[in-house]
Amino acid sequence: MQKQQTLQEGDKLPNLEVSEGEPGSKFYIGEVFAKGKGVLFAVPGAFTPGCDKKHLPGYVENYSKFIEKGITTIACLSVNDAFVMDAWGKHQGADGKIRMFADADGEFTKAIDMQLDLTNVLGNVRSKRYAMYIQDGVVKKLLVESDGTGLSCSLAVELLKHI
Ligand code: BEZ
Repeated sequence: MQKQQTLQEGDKLPNLEVSEGEPGSKFYIGEVFAKGKGVLFAVPGAFTPGCDKKHLPGYVENYSKFIEKGITTIACLSVNDAFVMDAWGKHQGADGKIRMFADADGEFTKAIDMQLDLTNVLGNVRSKRYAMYIQDGVVKKLLVESDGTGLSCSLAVELLKHI
């Protein structure tokens, strides 16, 4: 059982397991962002309309702007399985630009207190929509949608203003 603590700017990203590509490919998310500049954004669900039409496409479209600012890793995370996240990334042309992380058991999302109960809509507890800029493993900027699902502060164009 993970300790649950609301993530704040200045905190180190918790080092918990997520997967990418297929469920067996588990690795520690904290290690991915331990060195250099990175971006992590989370969505309530792969293929859901807002995430599919606006949130992820914005990061794909603005990929070169993040690179120009020295970002070396951009990752999208959702409480979905790794097969779904992989298919969604391919569908969006995110390959080679945005890494698609699956927090299938929701443990990372729970540990940073970003859980959002969408049982009535999507069938289970998912993640709030947020975006963060990480430097050497430390969260420098954290933008969380106030209602958990909105599409404002967590968009790529908004996060870019803080890097
Ligand atoms: C969306 O379209 O992004 C969405 C749909 C249902 C629940 C949460 C998000």
